[in-house]
Amino acid sequence: MISKKIDKYTFYTPEWQNYLNQLKGTISQSTYLPKYHLYPKTGLMNDPNGLSYFNGKYHIFYQWFPFDSFHGMKHWGHATSEDLVTFKDEGFALIPNEEYEKNGAYSGNAFEYSNELYLFYTANYKTNTGKLAKQALAIMDKKGTIKKYPKNPIINGAPKGFSQELRDPFVFERNDSFYMLLGGSRFVAEERASFGDIGELLLYKSNNLFDWTYQGVIDLPINKGYMLECPSLITLDGKDVLFLSPMGYEKERYRYQNRFSSIYLIGQLDVEKRIFELEHVDELDAGFDYYAPQSFYGKNQLPLTFGWFGCGEQVYPIDTEGWKHGLTTAQEIRLVNGKFRRFPSQEVQNKFINKQTVITKQLNLEAPYYHLQFELNKEQESTIYFGTKDDFWQLNLDEKKETVTIERSNLAKKIDIEYGMKRTCEIAELSTIIIVDVFVDNSFIELYLNKGERVFSFRVFLESKQTTISFSKEINVTWALFE
Ligand code: FRU
Repeated sequence: MISKKIDKYTFYTPEWQNYLNQLKGTISQSTYLPKYHLYPKTGLMNDPNGLSYFNGKYHIFYQWFPFDSFHGMKHWGHATSEDLVTFKDEGFALIPNEEYEKNGAYSGNAFEYSNELYLFYTANYKTNTGKLAKQALAIMDKKGTIKKYPKNPIINGAPKGFSQELRDPFVFERNDSFYMLLGGSRFVAEERASFGDIGELLLYKSNNLFDWTYQGVIDLPINKGYMLECPSLITLDGKDVLFLSPMGYEKERYRYQNRFSSIYLIGQLDVEKRIFELEHVDELDAGFDYYAPQSFYGKNQLPLTFGWFGCGEQVYPIDTEGWKHGLTTAQEIRLVNGKFRRFPSQEVQNKFINKQTVITKQLNLEAPYYHLQFELNKEQESTIYFGTKDDFWQLNLDEKKETVTIERSNLAKKIDIEYGMKRTCEIAELSTIIIVDVFVDNSFIELYLNKGERVFSFRVFLESKQTTISFSKEINVTWALFE
């Protein structure tokens, strides 16, 4: 690791290029890099932003502090992809070098309009007495040139009674008007220079994408924590599916165990009445490392999502390497019999070609990039161990409690111990035979039950690159390496 003291609010200028090139060189030697997950070539990556299929390819923007593995000045990084598996690094999309965004270009989405891609984002602006909420716009043309809107910010300040922690614009079209959702926080009594007391989803309206008028909050019949982040909306089979990332969501026995949680709501959003008629709400992910997902329509209007493969300010054993986090795989989202499912896109699945099926108690895999599939019977206890005797993670099905648990306590390199070493989900509602899919991409693991009815996303840093997978009893297992 190249040692250089980086100020938190440093933004990129060409003088940094040398340092970044060197850092990139060092990081490319890391033994924990993934092959089919997007990760930062330098520094820290968090939320996916501006997800879109525009001008014949996928555009994946992301929150990025390029200089080190901590949460510093947020830039928008940019990658493009034709196939959702290989990503071309396009470098910087937004560098926060204007006065109105002097503390970072925060999250937002992309909206295609008259052959251009409108990138909405939050301009983070701090003063001695707290933040001032500002939302901004940049426009990318078909050549890939991105220009910030000269009259930024497009929204200045928060409505009365709301905290200035107001962010993460999500713009969409409905009934021939443009709408923007913003995540925010409302004061119940006294106003303070920080978060308020209750998370709220604020609605703005526009007829030209530049001038926005506040409409009010959307009535959401759920626990909203003290702040809502990263709203994202998509329609599946005529139903609205709203993603939210609340801070301060109440923990349940098994659900919502991370510092922050991400949830989905299925129902109907009425923008006139500002009501979300809720049919179902649940957590999006039961793993340790998932937050701030965004949904979008891909090629041929395919509904997709990427999430941040991380959450909050976790401590990882490789923090000194100068790179941190990444995004999940591109996941297709759908409703199956009214139930929400999320599963790696067909393109990702197609990369595991030479499938082999064996009946065994133990499998030895040569490389840490694989897809494994097997079935578990909900009525029989089973445990599967991944790793070596002194360094492994495990999956357990407890037939009495009707739960599936992943556990990281037996890893040699411990991770984020403060937030616990087990994550559990209930399986009472799942069919008796549960299909398990495990996608391992070195230190990035996505584990799916029943093709995405439940998902665990989590990191592990195993010391050996060869993995032994041991099952508590003989099992029929299909596996393939990533090609
Ligand atoms: C969520 C979040 C967003 C914010 C961004 C800053 O992880 O806190 O609300 O825009 O990250 O990087």
